Amino acid sequence: MLKFESVWQRFGALEVLQNISFELTAGEFVCLVGPSGCGKTTLLRIGAGLLKASAGRVLLKAEPITAPRPEIGILFQQPNLLPYLSTRANIELPLALRGVPRAERRSLAQNALAQLGLAEFAEAYPSQLSGGMAQRAALGRALMQNPSVLLMDEPFGALDALTREQMQLELLDIWQRTGKTILMVTHSITEAIFMADRVLVLTARPSKLSATLCVPLPRPRRLEMIHSAEFGALAAQLRSYIGMSSA
Ligand SMILES: Nc1ncnc2c1ncn2[C@@H]1O[C@H](COP(=O)(O)OP(=O)(O)OP(=O)(O)O)[C@@H](O)[C@H]1O
Ligand SMILES: [Mg+2]
Repeated sequence: MLKFESVWQRFGALEVLQNISFELTAGEFVCLVGPSGCGKTTLLRIGAGLLKASAGRVLLKAEPITAPRPEIGILFQQPNLLPYLSTRANIELPLALRGVPRAERRSLAQNALAQLGLAEFAEAYPSQLSGGMAQRAALGRALMQNPSVLLMDEPFGALDALTREQMQLELLDIWQRTGKTILMVTHSITEAIFMADRVLVLTARPSKLSATLCVPLPRPRRLEMIHSAEFGALAAQLRSYIGMSSA
């Protein structure tokens, strides 16, 4: 579905990514972990067509990505909602920019608002939303173009623990219902294992892919699984991969 082929990135003298290659198959949920500053956001921006790699390329269904595409949605750590637009208008924005007629926009946004539990806050402005609600609105906006691939950069990093768990479950539910392909950056070992089919580990800069952990836990995932022996063993293994990669 989405294939990173020998991607290199440097900014001036700074070598950030070295020869990164991996592939997401359709419907897969993959998490990406690695030390701060190693180039995770950079890699997502390249995948989204927001940044051109110094070398290498990214293919969406065998087609090189050279600019942002509606098939690829991106969600950042901060919701980045426009403060002067209502929640509804923020969610409709990508469709408005593409010239989708107002009535169609309305009805799609209404569905998204209802699904994400934001119907009551459709006319509220971003400053009137809680952190979790704002991030949910940003997720709604990213889903609005019905992307087949969703790139997520620590989407729940700024949320409190309980809201974060709730959002994790909601995202897994959306993913299972819609069959999207997801690549999600996270700093949390627990979150990576709880969400992913596969966890990719990047080394410190200049970063290479150092390991892949397959997560054979059954679906749907339930929060209780986090306390299982199998989960603990996977977490220990991932921790050791990350430790080795920063040594
Ligand atoms: N546009 C840019 N110009 C110059 N340097 C950049 C640019 N974007 C990123 N960098 C540098 O590239 C490196 C990787 O940055 P990036 O944001 O991708 O890291 P990260 O892995 O996402 O870190 P974090 O976990 O803290 O979010 C950093 O050293 C950063 O300073
Ligand atoms: Mg980052």
